Amino acid sequence: MKVLLVGGGGREHAIGEALVKGGAELYAVSKHPNPGIRRIAKEYGLSKETDVQKVLELALKWNVDLAFIGPEAPLERGIVDLLEENGIPTVGPVRDAARIETDKSFARYLMEKHRIPGRKLFRVFDDVSEMRSWIDDFGRPVVVKPLGLTGGKGVKVVGYHLRDNEEAKAYARELIERDGRVLIEERTDGVEFTFQVFTDGKRVIPMPLAQDYPHAFEGDTGPITGGMGSYSCKNHRLPFITEEDYEKALETLKATVRAMKKEGTPYKGILYGQFMLAREGPVVIEYNARFGDPEAMNVLPILRTSLLEIAEGIVDGNLGSAEFEEKATVVKYIAPRGYPTDPIRGVKVQIREDKIREEGAGVYYASVDENLTMLGSRALAIVGIADTLEEAEEIASRGIKHVEGEIFYRKDVGTRESVERRINLAKEFGRDVRYSC
Ligand code: GLY
Repeated sequence: MKVLLVGGGGREHAIGEALVKGGAELYAVSKHPNPGIRRIAKEYGLSKETDVQKVLELALKWNVDLAFIGPEAPLERGIVDLLEENGIPTVGPVRDAARIETDKSFARYLMEKHRIPGRKLFRVFDDVSEMRSWIDDFGRPVVVKPLGLTGGKGVKVVGYHLRDNEEAKAYARELIERDGRVLIEERTDGVEFTFQVFTDGKRVIPMPLAQDYPHAFEGDTGPITGGMGSYSCKNHRLPFITEEDYEKALETLKATVRAMKKEGTPYKGILYGQFMLAREGPVVIEYNARFGDPEAMNVLPILRTSLLEIAEGIVDGNLGSAEFEEKATVVKYIAPRGYPTDPIRGVKVQIREDKIREEGAGVYYASVDENLTMLGSRALAIVGIADTLEEAEEIASRGIKHVEGEIFYRKDVGTRESVERRINLAKEFGRDVRYSC
């Protein structure tokens, strides 16, 4: 079966690899030539992923049977609608359903209307003085978010460390002036985790939980990035998540899919729940309408079921089950120095892929071209997979030694110490947990 893959990051390399392993003949489109995808694709077209007409032209030229959309930006442009109107069944939500990620107020109103568990208090404002007086009356810390996409690098959260809400109000005003509207939410403290599911619009099939490291530097410091790495555990849970928390979070995602169906915008594809494990249980920080990047690289390499079969189930509305190996995984992203604020671009990174593989690690290419010149975003990821998290982390760390250049990465992704820090945070929120992964 000919499958079109849209997107050229580490996430898409992992999707492409899993599709090919599942028997697909791969046709890829992305704005830069990803060397890892190039190697496994029959044909490769260069186009901005958001130029949906160009993507359609290539899909028709190649006569693909199915399409799989990696990033969120083309979803917002209605790429699924367009491909499906032209007879190409596509994994990913149509534009109206992708609003769950592309319009943060849509997600909050949906949760409120359908009483979806894990919701939190929010308001949307288009008036600066109403916003200011609401925050004053509210009297507790708030989080300020733009409603739309923020380049896939996470929502800018202001007010998280504030003693008062003055900075939050100033930022909210800036957003009203820029975008016309702003989302204000009550602040929720806790430990964040990622829960991704496959869905055909009715059935919801869970993937192993993962935890992302969004900060640029070790010890969870520095600016927020697209994610500097992530880990998952052998038992597909996380050390600080009880079965009850897990079931609640899964029910939240199931209720979301039911609500989307009731609204007349059935949701199909991958639904990503970014949860905060708060004192009161799992709370939705946001939804994403696609795989996480890096989290796709935790779950797809251990997927036992054919991703092609799953993709067909999603588009045909008869999604079956998905089996994953019982392995722990650690993904470490390597970024150019200066990322994310002022990355070095145009310099080469040296990669001894043979040596990385000798160490037992996997490699996923991202923001590098065919000459391994870094293009400014996260360049490549090294993945360790093993029976324990410690071993998986060691494999990834050994692999990463064979990458050289003007790069940096977080040594602490998946280390016992960093996971224990998260466990201790969970304990502060009343969880009775101990290290196990
Ligand atoms: N890792 C966060 C994201 O994919 O949005």
